[in-house]
Amino acid sequence: MIAIHDLVKHYGTFAAVDGVSLDVASGEIHGFLGPNGAGKTTTLRMIAGLLKPTAGRILVNGHDVATDPEAAKSSLGFIPDRPFIYEKLTAGEFLRFHAGLYGMDGNGVGGRVREMLGLFELGKWEHELVESFSHGMKQRLVMSAAFLHRPQSIVVDEPMVGLDPRGARLIKDVFRKMSQRGVAILMSTHTLEVAQEMCDRISIILKGKIIARGTVDELRGLAGGGDTHLTEVFLKLTGGSGLQEIDEVL
Ligand SMILES: Nc1ncnc2c1ncn2[C@@H]1O[C@H](COP(=O)(O)OP(=O)(O)OP(=O)(O)O)[C@@H](O)[C@H]1O
Ligand SMILES: [Mg+2]
Repeated sequence: MIAIHDLVKHYGTFAAVDGVSLDVASGEIHGFLGPNGAGKTTTLRMIAGLLKPTAGRILVNGHDVATDPEAAKSSLGFIPDRPFIYEKLTAGEFLRFHAGLYGMDGNGVGGRVREMLGLFELGKWEHELVESFSHGMKQRLVMSAAFLHRPQSIVVDEPMVGLDPRGARLIKDVFRKMSQRGVAILMSTHTLEVAQEMCDRISIILKGKIIARGTVDELRGLAGGGDTHLTEVFLKLTGGSGLQEIDEVL
């Protein structure tokens, strides 16, 4: 599980994250939605222990990220929006390097690496350099690294960007399976269809604050009910689209 309480991140006087509280239970897929610049990536990077909060508390699977970062990090899989992969490693080397970072020992690592490459349809590419990989292949490799150490919680920033339909389906299936096994998943996305299809609950963030939270139906209720498309709900809750002006400008 993931529990964050009154999380704040200031850059100078600007509050990128301004008192966010959020819980993701074991087995829950929680969507994190909000316009560009709302504070999603900043929040997720703090949960992953990559960015120090100005204030607030974060528990990852019961471990406090501030006081017990090792335990928190080793029970979490983080998939960043713009991952860095050493291009001169092969896929297999990258995963073994990652396994080492997580303290996985020699026995069984090779098997686990091949299992993950197989799951993410990269089995044929184990001995190929990452620099030859397409965008979608790199993304699947990063995902396989995040799942390698069997984390109890997953934080993922924009998982579907640039994936082909087959890759997107695969990722959805993997996330669903992980949640059925009790993994807590917090996922930022701009793909509202994905949020609607996959998430048990959704939190919407705007200017660093959570402005709405609930199931898709509950959010629809907040935006006036009916079977409104989630895009309309999102635009209504986050203050409109400015689309009226397009006609005038064009
Ligand atoms: N290192 C930094 N220094 C100053 N401001 C920053 C820094 N990092 C992020 N910000 C600001 O914090 C705000 C939140 O950024 P963040 O990346 O968390 O947004 P986001 O919700 O992930 O947006 P997107 O949907 O575009 O990915 C933005 O206004 C951004 O400019
Ligand atoms: Mg972001």
